[in-house]
Amino acid sequence: MARMKKTAPIGVFDSGLGGLTVFKVLARRMPEESLIYFGDTAHVPYGSKSPEAIARFSSEVAKFLAGRGIKLLVVACNTSSAWALPAIRKVVKIPVVGVIEPGARAALGVSRGGRIGVIGTEATVKSEAYVKAIKKLRKGARVSSAACPLFVPLVEEGWWTGEVVEAVAKKYSAPLRAAKVDTVILGCTHYPYLKPVLAKVMGSRVRLIDSAEEIARETESVLCKLGLRAPRGRKGRREFYASDAPERFGRLARRMLGTPVSKVKLHKFD
Ligand code: DGL
Repeated sequence: MARMKKTAPIGVFDSGLGGLTVFKVLARRMPEESLIYFGDTAHVPYGSKSPEAIARFSSEVAKFLAGRGIKLLVVACNTSSAWALPAIRKVVKIPVVGVIEPGARAALGVSRGGRIGVIGTEATVKSEAYVKAIKKLRKGARVSSAACPLFVPLVEEGWWTGEVVEAVAKKYSAPLRAAKVDTVILGCTHYPYLKPVLAKVMGSRVRLIDSAEEIARETESVLCKLGLRAPRGRKGRREFYASDAPERFGRLARRMLGTPVSKVKLHKFD
């Protein structure tokens, strides 16, 4: 690995708006770090695609970001983290942080009875990545999973609350309520947008895990270990790319982040 500059940016990507839930925490926790975000809006949703397509799209994005000189890549997408990490690591020679282990760790950290629910895209649930990660950390944990394929399109449409979302959430979460889970991992970075609705349908006794904090902590610790933290006191740059409809992405990103978003640049893959 060529010697990286401490002031080089961190790359963060997702199929769309979801990874902004991670971006937001990274920006708050490490304001001195520059961040480049990529939303692969031409290919969203990843969750209903084949593992081969997920690996191909993710590797293209990773290569593009590596070409922008990033010092570390945060794969802020559970679907890519479940299926594409080996492919990504083949094409980029920088540290890569995925989201599955941090989520599993965070859930076990708060679960009282070890009854963990996982909600995610079809592809993430099919991979059983969370089940394996949780069982590796605690053998006796009971894990129930539910795929929620309509959540990502709802979030990308800006439908984050309301009765339609609530009806869908009720239906998807029924098996988890029946399994009496005490903790639910929001196993897709789009789902924290729906947290108020999910909290309502799951009830106040169930802890909802948005792993963004844990992911940001892990990112910081990897950078510290490698001696790659940007000097404190500087103000990091924020840059945004989308592979389609950048203005639309920018509008929703502004709503989500609650801050001005610099012009979102278009980068198309041929
Ligand atoms: N936000 C992503 C995830 O965490 C991808 C969702 C999708 O594109 O289906 O899985």
